[in-house]
Amino acid sequence: MTQVSEEAFEGPYFNIADPSFAMQSEEVRRARDESWIARTNYGYAVLRHAEVGSLLRSKSLSQGSAQWPEHHGVHSGSFYAWWSKNLLVLEGTEHTRIRRLLNPAFSPARARKLKASFQVLADELVNDIADKGSIEFVNDFAAPFATRALCIMLGLPEEHWEFIADRADTIGLALSVNIQEEIDKIDTAVDELYEFVETLIQERRENPVDDVISTLVTQSSDSDSLSPEELRNAIVLMLFGGMDTTRNQLGLAIQTFIHNPEQWELLGQTPKLVNSALEEVLRVNPTTRWVTREAVEDFEFQGVQFKQGTTVHLFTASSGTDVQAFPDPEIDIEEKDRKAHFTFGGGKHQCIGQHIAKADMSVALATLATAITDLQLDGADEWLPDSGNTGPVKLPIRFQKRS
Ligand code: HEM
Repeated sequence: MTQVSEEAFEGPYFNIADPSFAMQSEEVRRARDESWIARTNYGYAVLRHAEVGSLLRSKSLSQGSAQWPEHHGVHSGSFYAWWSKNLLVLEGTEHTRIRRLLNPAFSPARARKLKASFQVLADELVNDIADKGSIEFVNDFAAPFATRALCIMLGLPEEHWEFIADRADTIGLALSVNIQEEIDKIDTAVDELYEFVETLIQERRENPVDDVISTLVTQSSDSDSLSPEELRNAIVLMLFGGMDTTRNQLGLAIQTFIHNPEQWELLGQTPKLVNSALEEVLRVNPTTRWVTREAVEDFEFQGVQFKQGTTVHLFTASSGTDVQAFPDPEIDIEEKDRKAHFTFGGGKHQCIGQHIAKADMSVALATLATAITDLQLDGADEWLPDSGNTGPVKLPIRFQKRS
């Protein structure tokens, strides 16, 4: 097979920084039919399910986000220090060790146990909106649900959810290309979340309860344990990585069901389908549009030559509707034999919070679907760019209450 380097690459090209770039577009579908790989203005994009799956496990690729602040002119400060030490960007033994120590907090058993509390929260929020007939879905449901569910999971006081959401949102600005302009605000948000989390760690150390922070703090007295700084960094990462993703994914789920009303009806009539409904939404309309990797060495894969340092975006979103893996890719919540999607990534960095995220989102979707029907867009919606992580900023909807 002829080996192709980036300079000689003649396949499809995308400008992924262009605000009009869309994952669910004819342009991406056509490129995926033609080739498993495309070039972008920031390295390569991998488009198909089989290759995304293989490369997620490749030892020749490492997490590509570690250098993000440096690449955008940020070389110091609270955000910089936190970012360079968080689980998402760590590799090797340091990553394995911290992940192993955090794992018990995210087990399927813990997720199952949390479902009853998620249900109380979903009932409260759905009762508040069901009679209204129209709401702004992000503010009225997705944001409070996602943040309060995370507070429940971590054992943070729910009454502080607006403070937590606001600071986590501000840290999220660090993922935009304008990071340098926003860095003072971002650093302040990191400092404020640190202070909040440190106070809580101290309280749980003195009076442990049955929550994640107490579990991790108690563990801290064992021989191999998270240092106070590692624990604080991990909790801030969970607030940062768990809140926006869940909020955005719930908004994307509603968008999907607005376009597929018969599927919403089916879910409303048969709520036990909620787990496959959620998997389908994660597959066809994921918030994580791609994950980024960097070549740690020169290597060749399927005839393409990757040089050390090359950025590779694994397009999880386009892999989820690849007809080679999903011959009938449209959402079908009754379909049982789908291949796994990569919305939670894969390999060593696969989302540690996925069981919790699935537990809270499945409760939210089943509760909404059994309470309201006839979902329609109700005015102008507003969206984050269709890149990295996406979701609605504003999603005005109207609906009927089920009788
Ligand atoms: C819809 C919900 C969610 C989605 C779609 C999602 C997606 C992802 C993806 C794709 C990755 C891997 C990134 C990469 O390989 O570059 C990841 C990692 C991670 N996620 Fe999630 N996530 C969600 C919810 C959560 C929640 C609720 C938490 C915590 C409570 C969480 C915590 C983390 C952490 C700590 C990592 C880093 C893991 C590591 O590097 O070892 N996520 N997530």
